Amino acid sequence: MYQIDISPNKRLCNISPSLYGIFFEDINRSGDGGLYAEMLMNRSFDDGVIPQGCTYNADSKTITSPTGWVSSFNCSETEGIYGWVASDGAQMSLTDKDTLNFARKRALNVRFNGGKIVNLGFGGIAVRAGSTCKFYMFAKSETSVQITIALTSESGEVYAHQTLTVEGGYTKYECLLESTADDNKAVLSLSSQFADTVTIGFTSLFPTDTFMKRENGLRRDLAEKLIALKPAFLRFPGGCIVEGFSKETAHRFEDTIGKVWERKPHWLLWGYNTTNGLGYHEFLQFCEDARIDAMYVFNCGMTCQARCPDYFDDKLIENMYNDAVHAILYASAPANTEWGAKRAENGHPETFVCLKYLEIGNENYGEEYNKRYKYFYERLKAEFPQYTYIATDHTEKIGLPTETVDDHFYSDPLFFASNNDMYDSLDRNGVNIYVGEYAATIGCKKGNLYGALGEAAFLTGIERNQYKVKMTSYAPLFNNPAYTAWEPDLIIFNNHTSYGIPSYYMLKMFAENRGSFVCGHTVITEYDKRCEHGAFSYISGGKKVTVGSIDENRQSLSADVDIVGGRLTVSFWDTCAEGEDQNHYDIVCEGGKSTVIHYNGWSKEIICEGNCELGGNSAHIEIDADGDEFEIKINGVLTHKAALKSVPHISAVCTVDETAGELIIKIVNITENDITVNLASDIPLASNALLTTLTATNMQSCNSFDSPEAVVPVTNEVRLEDGKINIGARSVNVIRTELR
Ligand code: AHR
Repeated sequence: MYQIDISPNKRLCNISPSLYGIFFEDINRSGDGGLYAEMLMNRSFDDGVIPQGCTYNADSKTITSPTGWVSSFNCSETEGIYGWVASDGAQMSLTDKDTLNFARKRALNVRFNGGKIVNLGFGGIAVRAGSTCKFYMFAKSETSVQITIALTSESGEVYAHQTLTVEGGYTKYECLLESTADDNKAVLSLSSQFADTVTIGFTSLFPTDTFMKRENGLRRDLAEKLIALKPAFLRFPGGCIVEGFSKETAHRFEDTIGKVWERKPHWLLWGYNTTNGLGYHEFLQFCEDARIDAMYVFNCGMTCQARCPDYFDDKLIENMYNDAVHAILYASAPANTEWGAKRAENGHPETFVCLKYLEIGNENYGEEYNKRYKYFYERLKAEFPQYTYIATDHTEKIGLPTETVDDHFYSDPLFFASNNDMYDSLDRNGVNIYVGEYAATIGCKKGNLYGALGEAAFLTGIERNQYKVKMTSYAPLFNNPAYTAWEPDLIIFNNHTSYGIPSYYMLKMFAENRGSFVCGHTVITEYDKRCEHGAFSYISGGKKVTVGSIDENRQSLSADVDIVGGRLTVSFWDTCAEGEDQNHYDIVCEGGKSTVIHYNGWSKEIICEGNCELGGNSAHIEIDADGDEFEIKINGVLTHKAALKSVPHISAVCTVDETAGELIIKIVNITENDITVNLASDIPLASNALLTTLTATNMQSCNSFDSPEAVVPVTNEVRLEDGKINIGARSVNVIRTELR
């Protein structure tokens, strides 16, 4: 039976105006060449500089951080100059001598000899007939050298050109280039008949038609896609890039303001460099232009705990603390103060009143975090009480003053659907929740309908509890598929176009249909069991032993398992193959406790807890698992008997829009069947309604560059026959009906 009992006059809680926000992190090359409208790859020539403190291995093309974290490094200077190519006799080389300024580690020496150097852009430079780009470069030359700056096709057909004469010390040279043709694979070419050396310190090519026509601004189509989501806030600049994998790769506000060519570059732990042109000022400017609140995330004195962490000493923590204070002052202090004056110098004398939230760290946890959180929170709150502070762990559980906690989830759609009730029993007097990062990842890498269904089901639960779960933001936001580091992502773009994945449209539907308050409602639905299957493994004789057939039948394991360092671990229902997301259930016994944990993607869910005393070097373990149920005995004693949470066929939430006088019902059907839902309201409902539906022919349906609108919402007028409505298979729905 499927029914929603609705009491439109019963006010459960007001809506949270800040519920739907966006989170930008420079990942998948979403900064330079993405949201930040710069068109030149490696415009500062710094991309191949090995991050300070790291060592480079040319065979594996990797760098290793001082604490031992290994990551890829694909732009080594030994293999060329990333993004730039010389031809027709031109010669170019990098130099670390006499660079443009203290921030620049490299400059480019060029001898043209009648040839040219070209910049390839990010998969080409996209030009349009009649549209204009602004080029500038800092260059120097002992003699007078005329250089032709041109936008051309790959084969050299010229679409626009200007000539600049370089002479003397470093000077900024600039010109406008208006293209005569459309070409998505154009290049920027610098050519000259002269043979004398020119040194180029920094370059830039920007469309003049940026969002709000801001200089050094954002790519208009991408910024507009963000605004169409009606976000209440922007969280920035990360994510893991705030943490870094070393002291040197940790984010610092002070490197991201001022003249762009004087900003230090930042090696992002997603495998590339940013010139920091999209910096703190630009983020605040976007928030102001878009009339949304800003949430600044800063490093709190430690690096990413998933990447061989480095815990900074007191001196460096103080340094990071000061960096956070300076960022706050930059936004909030009057123009006649040190940091307010810097803001004014950068073109914004008024304060940035959009700054509202401050997040202390990103995804940090445990004792080391708690110490730092306390240190930052207590001092910042005393000095800047006007902001809302966000912790990245449940610091309230250890008695620390905590306002809002940022929870993150990356899992499969069924995790989200079955955890629709996750926040149903929050303490009304407890902390506020911000679900700062979430996405259905497993089985949804290209951003399919299935992911959107799981997330939407989860969001109905969040909407129901928005008296405490006040904010959310999907993650990550952008992906240029030529540089993928993380999937799925909400908006897929290349150098000239973009599309939203189904989750984008689901979020748009939810954000456009908020209402004024959550009204009384009870959802009656049928459920599917979450039936698991997969391998068992455990440690014996110091080795991982994998046993058990991978099928859906009853599976039993009986084994002697090693206790390593007082801890015993057994995995069951493990479906994870090499290179895939993890999905397994672990029994972890230590310190007299035994816990069954579900590791699903990057999320971790405690299934059940029990007591268990371990002695000696091994324990005898018996697991009996069947479908969604399991029973565990350790040394002959029953420690766990549990069933997994089942998956509701429909999930729903009801709000009332007082201004429009309408009831809004969001219903998600995650099954493969059409379902008739009975809307049983305790006041009469109108007999017709507007139904907006996001659906497709199968769960895997995606949008793409070729079919950017294959999965988009469609709105129809429908009749509510005796309150009954057909909710199609695999669909996210918003029903709006007049309240009589
Ligand atoms: O959104 C991608 C990454 O996921 C973020 O950088 C990090 O916070 C999380 O682990």
